[in-house]
Amino acid sequence: MIVDVEADLIDARAGRDVGFFDLVSVDAVTPEDSELIFDVARKFRQHGAYKFPFNKGRMSVNAFFETSTRTMSSFDLSAKQLSMDTAAVGSNSSTSKGETYLDTAEVLDSYNISTLVVRSREAGVAEMLSRHVRCSVVNAGDGWHEHPTQALLDMLTMLDHFGGKDLTGKVVLIVGDIMHSRVFGSLARILPKLGAALRVAAPETFIPACVENFGVDVFFDVEKALSGADVVYALRVQEERGAAGFVPSLREYSKMFGISKKRLDMAHPKAILMHPGPVRRDIDVHSALVSVDERSHILRQVENGMAIRKTLLWLLSDRLDKRVKEFKRK
Ligand code: CP
Repeated sequence: MIVDVEADLIDARAGRDVGFFDLVSVDAVTPEDSELIFDVARKFRQHGAYKFPFNKGRMSVNAFFETSTRTMSSFDLSAKQLSMDTAAVGSNSSTSKGETYLDTAEVLDSYNISTLVVRSREAGVAEMLSRHVRCSVVNAGDGWHEHPTQALLDMLTMLDHFGGKDLTGKVVLIVGDIMHSRVFGSLARILPKLGAALRVAAPETFIPACVENFGVDVFFDVEKALSGADVVYALRVQEERGAAGFVPSLREYSKMFGISKKRLDMAHPKAILMHPGPVRRDIDVHSALVSVDERSHILRQVENGMAIRKTLLWLLSDRLDKRVKEFKRK
């Protein structure tokens, strides 16, 4: 029997499928796809921890070769809330004995899994694997390149705050370690499609040479950049990628670019503060702003992460159009 909550989700989906089989870049997401994803994600969010039977009999594997709290736990819990069976492999897998990512993915694909969620230190791993396995591959962050599910949950957070179907007229300011940020890589690809104007503010050493290709306005003075910003999106200085070597010291970085209450007050009066996490308190963002200030949407982003990932696992594992992915073994 379909109970009301399940019928509510089925109604929100309205017989639609996403166009993509793998999500390795936000470039794969069309406006129709994002409308479907956000419609369904809002419903999943509304129904909280309800356990859905939609993906019963299907399996999902998290292959995280780099650390994670939010992305890994939300993909795992999302799969379980859709009644999927899950497994996790990572740095303790046989890759540490020299097995390649490709051989690892083929092993997992042989179990007839529906989805393989991949995080890697290196750029391009999810994309490479997606071409060689039957299951859907979701990029959970690849090196400095992209983090598409982060961008989708961020878009949902912004759209719900501002209302409306797009971000036309809104100014999004991204502050910090642009150079090493896969979150920036996905946001810079998706935000202009939704009509937002994009600014970045960072020390010159954190600005990649090709950044103007994304159509962003570059500021080296964060206080000038804050004027008129509707979203202040802070990034972490990514020490694990050598970022500390790009600034004189973290203390100095914080003094010049850290988001304090005084600085957030310089943005639009209704501006919101966002951060993908993990936050380096008092380096990227002043501690008093992280979860206490009402302008902070950081925990809302986390909540939306669960809804977006549940949506993707459902849509990718339970295609109504019954189309199957074209792939080739190596
Ligand atoms: N934002 C994000 O990807 O966080 P985790 O590294 O904790 O997954």
